[in-house]
Amino acid sequence: MRPNLFGTYWHMTTQFSVSGIELELFRYPSRQESNLQAWDAADEHLIKHLIDTEQTCISTAVVNDGFGALTAGLLSINPSWPLTLETDAKTSQLGTSQNLTRNQLSQESITWVNSRDELPQGIELVLMKLPKNLNYFSHQLNRLSHVLPAGTQVLIGAKAKSINKSLLETIEKNLGPASASLTWKKTRVISCIADGKARALPKATTWSVPEFKLQITNLSNVFAANKLDIGARIMLDNMPKGDYKSIVDLGCGNGILGLHAKQVFPEAYIHFIDDSEMAVASARENWALNQLDNPALVGEQATFGWDDCLTNMSEGFRPDLVLCNPPFHQGEAITDHIAWQMFLDAFRRLKNGGILHVVGNRHLAYHVKLQRIFKNCTTVASNGKFVILQAQKISKKAQDPDVELTSDNETPHPQSALYGKPKA
Ligand SMILES: C[S@@+](CC[C@H](N)C(=O)[O-])C[C@H]1O[C@@H](n2cnc3c(N)ncnc32)[C@H](O)[C@@H]1O
Repeated sequence: MRPNLFGTYWHMTTQFSVSGIELELFRYPSRQESNLQAWDAADEHLIKHLIDTEQTCISTAVVNDGFGALTAGLLSINPSWPLTLETDAKTSQLGTSQNLTRNQLSQESITWVNSRDELPQGIELVLMKLPKNLNYFSHQLNRLSHVLPAGTQVLIGAKAKSINKSLLETIEKNLGPASASLTWKKTRVISCIADGKARALPKATTWSVPEFKLQITNLSNVFAANKLDIGARIMLDNMPKGDYKSIVDLGCGNGILGLHAKQVFPEAYIHFIDDSEMAVASARENWALNQLDNPALVGEQATFGWDDCLTNMSEGFRPDLVLCNPPFHQGEAITDHIAWQMFLDAFRRLKNGGILHVVGNRHLAYHVKLQRIFKNCTTVASNGKFVILQAQKISKKAQDPDVELTSDNETPHPQSALYGKPKA
């Protein structure tokens, strides 16, 4: 057990134990304000199924492994199991890697791909977790249909309550015929046999925000894929006042907040960051689509980072504004620990006097967190459901010993930071 920011204790199960496989697994980051577990019963079911059926070690793609339970399970059965790991989430990649190291499992037999990379040929088995977003799931099946020969087995682990006739039809339509196992620990394993026919990949969805003349295109796993989020809408209508030069769109999704920020602050450099690679790709696409580079400045005035919050930003980078519409779930789990991490990272990285501008559902009470971290919080706007809050970094060090901070060196050129330099 370990203390959280309020001095109470989280109790988190970390011992994975199924069919003789014993692992210690943590979510990513391992120190987080939640008591969520790093795997679920569907992971256990898939590993149990492989052991019960005496699955031999063949080239296997593992798709949507949350924090590496499936990968570590396979490598525990055979340390050189040839694996291709596909995930859209940076936190999944980092968590898997961390858990393999923790369990002394080598990563040498692993090929890592994101949800847009080309899948390798030669995959003989697929282990997959059903994602929450079914459009994304169909997209993933379409991708598999391009490389799987007819007869390849695809095992999909899911909660029994998520499995119905229409899901099995979706799988059949996008990859091949499917049937579900008996229920174990309220989960089932769907077994699909690829039919060897390649399906067309889905087109990105598009919508616009006419009053700001913004065109938005979204890949299948991007938040607000079909329309503007209502939280984002109130942010667009209430951008902060001031003169900002280096702005982070933290958890950018399709980039809508950062794109509009560039319209309001044409001198600024915008840094788009998201855990979802498809989100980062969509933000990049939308930057180009809306032609937001200011010709009075040199080069591209945006950077794009696939990252867990601000983890991998270069130490010296000091933005003067962070815009944030935080997530309140991770996969299936409802949680505010990512919001916590985003606020803490923003506090650490903002230059002195810099502003964190946040939108949230009123009932999430983000003001309590902001007050705790920044020692100040102002309500900028609100409607029945949402509230926009602002916190200013006004001290070099937080007063609280449990809020860890890095040094506070300010940088004069925010655009020279982080994820590759802007194009000249
Ligand atoms: C509520 S959505 C907001 C998207 C966009 N800014 C908007 O307003 O429409 C939250 C975003 O945070 C991203 N996210 C979740 N966890 C993250 C993390 N650990 N680091 C960075 N981004 C994360 C999600 O992928 C999602 O795009």
